[in-house]
Amino acid sequence: MNTLPNRVKLVDVGPRDGLQNEKQPVPAAVKIELVHRLQAAGLREIEVTSYVSPKWVPQMADNHEVMQGVRRQSGVRYSVLTPNMKGFEASLADRPDEIVVFGAASEAFSQKNINCSIAESIERFAPVVEAAKAKGIAVRGAMSCTVGCPYEGEVPPSRVEYLAGLMKGIGVEHVGVADTIGVGTPKKVQAAFDATLKHYDIDSVSGHFHDTYGQAVGNTLAALEMGVWQFDASVAGLGGCPYAKGATGNVATEDVVYMLHGMGIDTGIDLDALIDAGAYISEQLGRPTNSRVARAVLAKRKA
Ligand code: HMG
Ligand code: MG
Repeated sequence: MNTLPNRVKLVDVGPRDGLQNEKQPVPAAVKIELVHRLQAAGLREIEVTSYVSPKWVPQMADNHEVMQGVRRQSGVRYSVLTPNMKGFEASLADRPDEIVVFGAASEAFSQKNINCSIAESIERFAPVVEAAKAKGIAVRGAMSCTVGCPYEGEVPPSRVEYLAGLMKGIGVEHVGVADTIGVGTPKKVQAAFDATLKHYDIDSVSGHFHDTYGQAVGNTLAALEMGVWQFDASVAGLGGCPYAKGATGNVATEDVVYMLHGMGIDTGIDLDALIDAGAYISEQLGRPTNSRVARAVLAKRKA
């Protein structure tokens, strides 16, 4: 346990990963208010939106409006997804601090999600990475399906190692190890990290765990024990990928913060304010929060 970090950096991906999967339209003003509440709660990294085809993901068609509407706070980094040069160029008007290229460890998911093979995706990402770096914009790579794929089933670590090597080869500085459909368990997630660490150091990797099978907090702890100190999470446990049917949201940021603070690990986040942000978006969506911690705290507040 002595490898546990003292501090953890959390990226709230709720506005993007969370709201990209909503059946009902969410007004841009609500997304902007959510970003404001997250930064007020102490989040210093927020994944705001994506520049993808509005035919594929209509929920993110308001990317410009949302990015332009956010009152930027100094010290906060705003990241966005850009799958190709068209998306990257569209994002520039909105001055993202970081862009995310997103590939998959499974061929079938790559095809379903971004309409090309893994090799083709790398060809599309390469000029994006180069252009972003030339403009001083940070680059992150998301690696989907690092333990399981909705179309191919179990994904071996060798596929993760292969994708991480390709990402490294085009200059991606940091990669996120994603359990897109939330099927991972601690040892499998650790194996996916071990594979990634063949190409990246521990300070250049993060965890991105969906919570479909209720394993995401356990998987976060398993990664922490390897020394991983950066994680994506989604306020109120919002989310899911439109091309991973049945997969639910990311691990709730509130649940991760509660665990970390309980272990004496600093996040810089005010849990009560974060719970309020989650209550706000849940109310807007007309359903209860997916965060167990938020449910417990809200019930206690009422009593
Ligand atoms: P494509 O059809 O292969 O692209 O789509 P294309 O270059 O052949 O162009 C076809 C049409 O799309 C053209 O328009 C382009 O202009 C347009 P048309 O002439 O037919 O009117 N187009 C675009 N429009 C807006 N923005 C763009 C763009 N590129 C082309 N950037 C594409 C390729 C990637 C665009 C498409 O497959 C797509 O949008 N897919 C959606 C991917 C997505 O957003 N998935 C969810 C996010 S990933 C995720 O959630 C996983 C993650 O959380 C990690 C995890 O949990 O695993 C990150
Ligand atoms: Mg995701």
